[in-house]
Amino acid sequence: MPQIIPYQTLMQTLTVDLGSRSYPIHIGPGLLDRADLILPHLAQKRVVIVTNTTVGPLYLERLTQTLTAAGVRVTPVVLPDGEAYKNWETLNLIFDALLTDRAERKTTLIALGGGVIGDITGFAAASYQRGVPFIQVPTTLLSQVDSSVGGKTGINHPLGKNMIGAFWQPQLVLADTKTLNTLPDRELSAGMAEVIKYGLITDAEFFDWLEANTAPLMQRETAALTEAIYRSCANKARVVAADEREAGLRALLNLGHTFGHAIEAGMGYGVWLHGEAVAAGTMLAADLSRRMGLVKQADCHRAEALFQQAHLPVKAPNLGADEYLRHMGVDKKVEGGKLRFVLLRGIGNAFVSEAPADLLQQTLTEAVA
Ligand code: NAD
Ligand code: GLY
Repeated sequence: MPQIIPYQTLMQTLTVDLGSRSYPIHIGPGLLDRADLILPHLAQKRVVIVTNTTVGPLYLERLTQTLTAAGVRVTPVVLPDGEAYKNWETLNLIFDALLTDRAERKTTLIALGGGVIGDITGFAAASYQRGVPFIQVPTTLLSQVDSSVGGKTGINHPLGKNMIGAFWQPQLVLADTKTLNTLPDRELSAGMAEVIKYGLITDAEFFDWLEANTAPLMQRETAALTEAIYRSCANKARVVAADEREAGLRALLNLGHTFGHAIEAGMGYGVWLHGEAVAAGTMLAADLSRRMGLVKQADCHRAEALFQQAHLPVKAPNLGADEYLRHMGVDKKVEGGKLRFVLLRGIGNAFVSEAPADLLQQTLTEAVA
């Protein structure tokens, strides 16, 4: 008889350590069926599941069945899909539904989807009745390794990405790795950008592991994906526990994001995926670091090769230096009107610094497509 391995043994769990607001991240296949993991985190047997028109048809019924079978009343809210909808109008659709349904302070919001759904649902939870509980059920690689963890929630403004929001931690993150089977290839690659980011920032050993394991990851082998998600979440949980509100260390998680957010806003939200913009943005940060004499060309090449193995763009679009500077001027790391960047001294060694204007100008004109 072949041995049947129970889901419990395949599931990995780690904790985001935030004192009384600590919460678990469960990672593994089939977790959408696990009411037992969700029930202890509900303040009342009532939830509102927020999802979108792509993820809803795939997974809403399944999660709803899991919860209703456990006696939980479920109200669904299905939003339009896309980064372009991460805005006030869509946020208001959630509030409309919550008020129409008379959702209460103890009603839990569940975000079922990628980072867009996670960010907007989290912000709705942070602000509805001045704050209600929420649970992240991330269904993209990017959201499983990054956006569902750490409590950054929010929406975009036409003048700046993620500029309106709140820190609001979830009660639980439930990452069902089976949901990644339906993810389009381009979205899988976009998630790899944030995975590679952790290696570049502080975890050189993880970077080495990724260089050796990109092929099984891109083929969606469960063991490789679970390991990559676990190690990414462990990196993120450590940083968030040390610096929840981004007074210092947490800013490192934004490697490539200053340039990347400018690419997203400059090209129009949704044209470049967030992860794609982060990959190309990281190569601009690497180029600037090299021009500043901080990082060796060989390390830049290793980063470029790994992004390419993950089918990610490594050349940022030529928006024009002025357009880049205009968008980067509203970056959250700006201090006293001065731009600051996450730069590299080597693989696994990132830090935050200002950069000489002439070298930045060179990067924005010479290192772009
Ligand atoms: P996304 O949420 O737009 O999802 C990508 C696409 O995949 C969407 O079309 C979605 O409907 C679809 N999808 C989701 N799960 C699927 C599945 N299992 N099968 C098939 N299709 C599926 O994009 P994303 O990359 O998950 O998230 C990007 C967003 O996350 C950006 O808005 C970014 O700013 C944000 N973000 C936030 C943080 C944070 O700390 N809060 C960190 C990183 C990124
Ligand atoms: N994605 C950056 C952060 O969570 O801080």
